[in-house]
Amino acid sequence: MNSVQLESEDGVPLAVALSERVHWVGALDPNLRTFDIILKTANGTSYNAYVIRGSEGVAVIDTVKEGFANDFFARLESVADYSEIKVIVLNHLEPDHTGALPELMKRAPQAQLFISQKAQSMLKGLLKQDELSYTPVVTGDKVSLGDRSLEFLHTPYLHWPDTQCTYAPEEAMLFSGDVFGCHFCDNRLYNDKVGDFRFSFEYYYAHIMRPFKEYVVRALELIEPLPLKLIAPTHGPILRDRPQHYIQRYRQLSSPALHNELKPNQKTLLIFYISSYGNTRRMAEAIYQGAMQIEDVRVSLYDLEGGEVAPFVDLIEEADGLVLGTPTINGDAVKPIWDLLSSLAVVNLKNKLGGVFGSYGWTGEGVRLVEDRLRGLKLRVPIQGLRVKLIPTEDEIHECKAFGLELAQELTGARESRVINFADL
Ligand SMILES: Cc1cc2nc3c(=O)[nH]c(=O)nc-3n(C[C@H](O)[C@H](O)[C@H](O)COP(=O)(O)O)c2cc1C
Ligand SMILES: [Fe+2]
Ligand SMILES: [Fe+2]
Repeated sequence: MNSVQLESEDGVPLAVALSERVHWVGALDPNLRTFDIILKTANGTSYNAYVIRGSEGVAVIDTVKEGFANDFFARLESVADYSEIKVIVLNHLEPDHTGALPELMKRAPQAQLFISQKAQSMLKGLLKQDELSYTPVVTGDKVSLGDRSLEFLHTPYLHWPDTQCTYAPEEAMLFSGDVFGCHFCDNRLYNDKVGDFRFSFEYYYAHIMRPFKEYVVRALELIEPLPLKLIAPTHGPILRDRPQHYIQRYRQLSSPALHNELKPNQKTLLIFYISSYGNTRRMAEAIYQGAMQIEDVRVSLYDLEGGEVAPFVDLIEEADGLVLGTPTINGDAVKPIWDLLSSLAVVNLKNKLGGVFGSYGWTGEGVRLVEDRLRGLKLRVPIQGLRVKLIPTEDEIHECKAFGLELAQELTGARESRVINFADL
């Protein structure tokens, strides 16, 4: 039989035993179709919360979204008395996991609250209470429940600054917060029983964890050595069948997606352009030729009119420099450029080199607007954008080549620093 009993015969929500001492006390939200504005959910989601019982007290790990508090409390009451709760752990303070917290703290006032260091200021912002008692924890900190215990792993930015994971060594279980989670609602709960949720796991990683790849790698360093029987995330299936596979998948997803033939000291520079009459294209080709003079830079040139944006996102994520060419149309850069830029929200662009160029007819705002956006996305834009009025002249083509050369030199560190003339800006 595949189903898991989540309710009594008369419809009262019941906790589900993951082991003799650990219970799921979460809630299902099958009707949700959009999460946090940006995520689609094909069959809803779950807010998973857990209870672990030791010989000297009970711990509650995470809670649920406010509107689902009744299910959470009913499940909690089916396995523990409020007076037994000694510890409340919050792995992540987003409201989908802390909605029921204020009420839980009222019902179990003796319980000690454990949060990550970075969660401290957020907790005050969230609960709007001055008098809050809590214990901030870091990797290696432990709390004892007698014959069971909890150990904390500092795993920030997965996907908020405050996030942490909690490990129960005697159970070999990891309460991982949003890490390894996904928006998938299935009352069979376990990964070996629910429907096929692979798309949802991948989608969740791509939208929620991908921008924080470096932090995923750091978290994996802490998680991979742990003996694990089960991963208990805050959304989606509980991973009890081959939990290591999901850890390995995170490892793959946070490693470079593409193979290339770069030598260790080689840098990559990607030039994207779009052009109606060929003017911005002429500039792009000259910039490309200029940059190619530097051997240690692998330069690529792409016309955005000829490609889908999605594959470029992977390239850009791994590139050292990004150069964009756009004409000015109706006082703005053109839509394919903005589309490319908006699709980069899921990748970390910090400190990559940025550059912008383009042809214009009379006002030429497009280049400046894109430069501002690149800076907003935290790229470095040390070389002022290059604009050419209508068809580039021979001299202007030379200027474009010099611009490309300078960008490539900037990547290898060979560019001489120039005095910035603020009158030009
Ligand atoms: C519909 C349209 C609107 C334009 N709007 C502007 C504008 O607001 N400001 C400007 O400087 N140039 C404007 N231009 C001129 C183009 O930027 C100019 O023709 C440029 O050289 C085109 O470069 P391309 O061949 O790379 O597309 C416009 C051109 C068209 C066709
Ligand atoms: Fe979250
Ligand atoms: Fe969440």
